[in-house]
Amino acid sequence: MMNATFHPVQIGLFDSGVGGLSVARAVRRQLPHSPIIFLADQAHVPYGPRSLDEVRGFSEAITQFLLSQGAKMIVVACNTASAAALHYLREKHPGIPFVGMEPAVKPAAESTQTGVVGVLATPATFQGRLYASVVERFAQGVEILQDPCPGLVSEIEAGRLDGAETHRILEHALNPMLQKGIDTVVLGCTHYPFVIPVIQEVVGPEVRVIDPAPAVARQVARLAQPLNAEEASPTRFITTGDPNMLQALLPELLGESYPVEQAQWQESALIQSGD
Ligand code: DGL
Repeated sequence: MMNATFHPVQIGLFDSGVGGLSVARAVRRQLPHSPIIFLADQAHVPYGPRSLDEVRGFSEAITQFLLSQGAKMIVVACNTASAAALHYLREKHPGIPFVGMEPAVKPAAESTQTGVVGVLATPATFQGRLYASVVERFAQGVEILQDPCPGLVSEIEAGRLDGAETHRILEHALNPMLQKGIDTVVLGCTHYPFVIPVIQEVVGPEVRVIDPAPAVARQVARLAQPLNAEEASPTRFITTGDPNMLQALLPELLGESYPVEQAQWQESALIQSGD
């Protein structure tokens, strides 16, 4: 109920890097008055080539950190971290609402006309049980073609959304899929919505490209809207990498400008720099 003492809860989001901003941007559109606290683990980006165990360790420490800073719900704005840790985090923190990412194979399988769907995600996401179960449950009778797009996350982290290497990686991934008749591409990594213009250029206007962020943001809104916080919280952006680099990319990737703070890994825990 909206009254003078209602404060929207602070929503924690995390990713290995700037990819989570594609989800944060959608959440900001859906819930413009809700404060967010965003953590980019750029000391460890990319997560995709790492083991699921290692990514689960990072995800648990980041979740602890975001909760300690006041977040009342957590959005795992990273397919790789969701594959590695979502189930575990929900069990470990039963009182906290979690929203995670899973490749949007279901809507793709429902809408494909050719019966051939391409999925772009990281190697770790493809190895996880979450992806296997999504394909098993929703893609019966549909041919799924996968590509891990090696190097693409690093190009996006560097802000080279339209560079020659970005084009090369996407052509290499998508041209063979086009030859096999895909009419739908699922973005199974939260970094990839930032290169939709290049993807669309390679596949042409007839191929549907599915960005799951708006649907995830609607789910975040359903869970967050009824929650009331005791006091107002600020919106904050934090990185374990170089704050200046993230700050420089925020206007383009998020559409808003914020100062960026730094957090540091100490052993396997995260602490705020200056603490
Ligand atoms: N943005 C991430 C994902 O959705 C992680 C990419 C990476 O760090 O490899 O999978």
